[in-house]
Amino acid sequence: MPVSIKSPREIELMTEAGRILALVHEELEKALRPGMTTLDIDKLGEEIIRSYGCIPSFLGYNGYPASICVSLNDEVVHGIPNAGRIIHEGDVVSLDAGVIYKGYHSDAARTHIVGEGTKEAKDLVRVTEESFFEGIKYAREGNHLGDISAAIGNYARALGYGVVRDLCGHGIGTNLHEAPEITNFDTGRRGLRLKAGMTLAIEPMINAGTWQVRWLDDDWTVVTKDGRLSAHYENTVLITGGEPKLLTLR
Ligand code: MF3
Ligand code: CO
Repeated sequence: MPVSIKSPREIELMTEAGRILALVHEELEKALRPGMTTLDIDKLGEEIIRSYGCIPSFLGYNGYPASICVSLNDEVVHGIPNAGRIIHEGDVVSLDAGVIYKGYHSDAARTHIVGEGTKEAKDLVRVTEESFFEGIKYAREGNHLGDISAAIGNYARALGYGVVRDLCGHGIGTNLHEAPEITNFDTGRRGLRLKAGMTLAIEPMINAGTWQVRWLDDDWTVVTKDGRLSAHYENTVLITGGEPKLLTLR
């Protein structure tokens, strides 16, 4: 599949989809507290998304049953909200959400620590965000996709973290997942040349221990093989002739 170049009008719509998703994440962060269930977060998230006139893009996607992926502690991504799953003080909570605005998608994830977390948790969340920002230093027209991937992975790996290899970032637009696939590690290939108008969901998933993951029996939830913590950070990014635009961050 070719990588689509968005027109000025499409960029306008994706910018609005991203702006709304940034607000959704801000509101969810404010609401997050011990005692809530992961289903409470999903319901609130869906309500906020719809209040902006958007559709939650994950709901029903490949059969995914919720609007927000809520992944706790050793869960890497795609945790399924559940009324029996209570959030506790100190939990590492990854929230992944997507919205569709007038047919255009945005996708973003944040990882929060509820209340006071351990040093291990705080360092992990910080390094995961930092790895994203290392990557987007290379998100410029004329560079190659592999430059972003290598920068993300090498940054986290050098600090002793496990960089998840089984899941990747992706192009985004009228579909949640479009070409290209964006690994979070150096594949040894430079990959495609970046052009202004490409929109990319860049999403490092970083583990405190091993990079290895496994899937739970629900066929969605990805967890770390060693049971240690994982964090996820994602934004939808527009490649321009200059600095990249982070569409899902205010
Ligand atoms: N950010 C995730 C991804 O790009 C969200 C997909 S969850 C799903 O894979 F439920 F929609 F599949
Ligand atoms: Co994504």
